[in-house]
Amino acid sequence: MYAYLYLISAILFILSLRGLSSAKSSQIGNMLGMFGMGIAIITTICLPSVMTYKFIIIGLALGGVVGYLIAKRVNMTDLPQLIAAFHSLVGLAAVCVALSAFYNPGSFGIFNLIPKVSLVEMSLGAAIGAITLAGSIVAFGKLSGFIKGKTLLFKFQHKLNLIIGIVLVLLIILFIKSQSETIFITTIIFSVILGFFLIMPIGGADMPVIVSMLNSYSGWAAAGIGLTIQNDLLIITGALVGTSGAILSHIMCKGMNRSLINVMIGGLGESATIETTFETGGPKSHIGNVKLCSPEDAAFIIKNAETVVIVPGYGMAVSQAQHVIKQITDICKADGIKTRFAIHPVAGRMPGHMNVLLAEANIDYDDVLEIDEINHDFANTDVAIVVGANDITNPAAKNDPTSPIYGMPILDVEKARTVLFVKRSLGSGYAGIDNSLFYKSNTMMILGDAKTVSENILRAMKE
Ligand code: TAP
Repeated sequence: MYAYLYLISAILFILSLRGLSSAKSSQIGNMLGMFGMGIAIITTICLPSVMTYKFIIIGLALGGVVGYLIAKRVNMTDLPQLIAAFHSLVGLAAVCVALSAFYNPGSFGIFNLIPKVSLVEMSLGAAIGAITLAGSIVAFGKLSGFIKGKTLLFKFQHKLNLIIGIVLVLLIILFIKSQSETIFITTIIFSVILGFFLIMPIGGADMPVIVSMLNSYSGWAAAGIGLTIQNDLLIITGALVGTSGAILSHIMCKGMNRSLINVMIGGLGESATIETTFETGGPKSHIGNVKLCSPEDAAFIIKNAETVVIVPGYGMAVSQAQHVIKQITDICKADGIKTRFAIHPVAGRMPGHMNVLLAEANIDYDDVLEIDEINHDFANTDVAIVVGANDITNPAAKNDPTSPIYGMPILDVEKARTVLFVKRSLGSGYAGIDNSLFYKSNTMMILGDAKTVSENILRAMKE
């Protein structure tokens, strides 16, 4: 009976992932996932092996209250660091389960000598969990701006990572042979160090890959817990999260034109030298003269266009300008102006960030196009409006081999007849580099908060 209920949950999780693969079906995907999780929790609570409900109720109440408060308070723009923080908890849970299985195997149904296979599960679960824990804490620090300055990269770091990796494998083998407590604890300590060194050198524009990689690691850590506590559903769910995270990392790598192996082993290559400044605002080095444009002039230019492409970025998320932008597109459409959105895979601060915002503003899915679908069209576009985006439009990715984002595909906005750039200053974006696009002859800067500027453009368009 319990096995069947777990099977139903697993099927619901798979259907949920399927639903989440497109914006149109994502709501139903979410519902299926919640339904599957509900069945999984109730089934687990009813398992005959559950001896007391006291701790389960305390855990549910505590987790429920904390989760509710966080979900109520968190800003959309803070979600990436929140997700990183949650990943660290999954890692910590894996380490705790492995430790408790080691010190109290009886509570996991092991009453004599711990079998070798359990020692393998325990040590792998603890190692992956500890790497996820440390790596996610570093990612949290970077995404929320606590870890600033030059990323930690020293001369022999990659060799050191390799040596730590080899030592870890040897420690695990020794632990399986000896079941030694000292070796088990040393394995966990080395894993924490490896997690720290793996994520520390990665910064700037490569962070999206790390967010999805840690998502994948947390899935494998959960699968490790499932193996230790012999819970089939946790093994399946962990494997689903692990593989989907790995697929997402692959998609992110494609979006950034990076190799997954390079990022996985800790920022090999040029990206490793990115300076993670997290600064925005404040003009940086000037490359030329900038043309400024008022919202009224922008409204006039837009009204006289036949085709408009809007490029949303992190600034739109911060200012929550999506609803006003939607009203601008409604007027454009009513006037017969072809209006579409161009989405870069790493726009914003988390995968699908822009798609979520645009869906929230009820923007038609058919008007939202991915980079490959829209890029060739910029040359035939009258006006490209860049709303709080920066790195994803920076031509340095194509022209400057010394740039940390060199090789990353960008949205070719500069090919549009006129580019309207909405942002507060001439400051850099997440990767901390100047954008020469601000100084091009067909670019006009509309400086100000994206929502305020959009409201002023909307007002002028209505008038
Ligand atoms: P960014 O390159 O970070 O540029 C965003 C721009 O928005 C900034 O230059 C900032 O300029 C402007 N801005 C901030 N607040 C604003 C406001 N209230 N109103 C108007 N403008 C505002 O963003 P992007 O173009 O979306 O590119 C994303 C970057 O983040 C990439 O480098 C990517 O690698 C990285 N990243 C992405 C992810 C994922 S998974 N998507 C995760 C981590 C990192 P001002 O200060 O001048 O206003």
